[in-house]
Amino acid sequence: MDAFVGTFKDNKSAPIHRWFQYPAGFSYRAVEHALETFPVPEGGTVYDPFAGTGTTLVVCKGRGISSVGVEAHPLVARIAQTKVTWDLDLDKLGREADALLRSLPRRVSSSRLPRDLPALLQKCYSPKNLTKLFAIRDALDRVEKVHRDLFEVALIGTLRAASAAATGWPYIAPRKRIQEKDALETFALQLSHCLEDLRATRAERRTVPARALEADARAPPLGKGSVDLAFTSPPYLNNYDYADRLRLETYFLGMASTWGEITERFRSKLIVAATTQVDRREGSARERVEGALEGLDPQVARELGEKVEKLSEVRKHRRGQKSYDLMVARYFEDMAQAMTATRRLLRPEGRLVMILGDSAPYGVPIPTEEYLGKLGLGVGFSDYRTTRLRSRGGKWRSNPQRHHVPLKESWLLLRA
Ligand SMILES: C[S@@+](CC[C@H](N)C(=O)[O-])C[C@H]1O[C@@H](n2cnc3c(N)ncnc32)[C@H](O)[C@@H]1O
Repeated sequence: MDAFVGTFKDNKSAPIHRWFQYPAGFSYRAVEHALETFPVPEGGTVYDPFAGTGTTLVVCKGRGISSVGVEAHPLVARIAQTKVTWDLDLDKLGREADALLRSLPRRVSSSRLPRDLPALLQKCYSPKNLTKLFAIRDALDRVEKVHRDLFEVALIGTLRAASAAATGWPYIAPRKRIQEKDALETFALQLSHCLEDLRATRAERRTVPARALEADARAPPLGKGSVDLAFTSPPYLNNYDYADRLRLETYFLGMASTWGEITERFRSKLIVAATTQVDRREGSARERVEGALEGLDPQVARELGEKVEKLSEVRKHRRGQKSYDLMVARYFEDMAQAMTATRRLLRPEGRLVMILGDSAPYGVPIPTEEYLGKLGLGVGFSDYRTTRLRSRGGKWRSNPQRHHVPLKESWLLLRA
């Protein structure tokens, strides 16, 4: 397969993909490339075990291919499902959107901010703009469910766009101030994009099956041998805490209001890819990883055992004492389970293609794609191939605390 380069930035102006900018997302062009390289037979199904906001599903639906995705973060799964719900009465939807927009100025004037607002929200908006955002949120309670999800996605897309603080991904910087945009105008614009994109979908594509399930890639609620191609980008081993990154959205929607609630409701459901997801009481990282992977590939189990042992040593002398040892051990344990489950779903000759990044916590290189390829053979795939896409991590190069191990992004192709 030729190397393919693209990023989530491609999705910023692409119809439907643009509804919510999820920086963990991959380029829709990567999905197109995969579908051209591995054509799915007539009536076949594509599966994305780490579906995120549904880039794979949106592309498949646009091409008339059935798809199903699994996403463990409830809000992200909801956004993905909304992005593939095209079979709506668009005239009725348009009328309801107009009525909602007309009612908002009146609602704002009689609206009060909720008490006990999380500090993050207070830091990101002026009280006036925040009042507008909450007025929109509350108005959605009266909208029919089938339309409400779409309006909610437009509102979620408004949050970062209308903020007075730098809310660019991955980190929100409340102290870095920017020009705040009017929440009502921003929402109206977001909503107009949604309606415009839905109107532009081809009528015959609107009913193509596409499902985003809130579920765990390690135990997907799908039948054995039910998919032809799995295409995905799992979390990278780069200490990116998805649950934390979505704090602005989940706090605003009232889905959580503290770190503890975020852990219980979201963080604990995701595969481990960040040190904030592990607990030192979990025991020895080396024993864990060797025990979990020995039966799949003894050499990978031993090498990873040595690497996490080194990380356990290095952390003792580092200021942050980050638990990279446990993070790495748990990541491979979780990914082996997700690959086992995906293998089970694939039909004979089916393919799993993953876009992956390698990593080097505390400067210890972890060749993620090679290890996952070998573990793939251990879980029943017949062969694997890796293709280098590009180097990554350049943004941090000038940081003196940072290691100098060159990092890359790759495709990993596994054949069932
Ligand atoms: C790299 S992102 C995928 C983004 C996606 N390609 C898109 O374009 O939006 C990885 C996703 O995996 C999800 N995830 C993490 N653990 C999971 C699990 N156990 N099961 C399913 N999804 C999970 C994360 O919430 C995140 O949305």
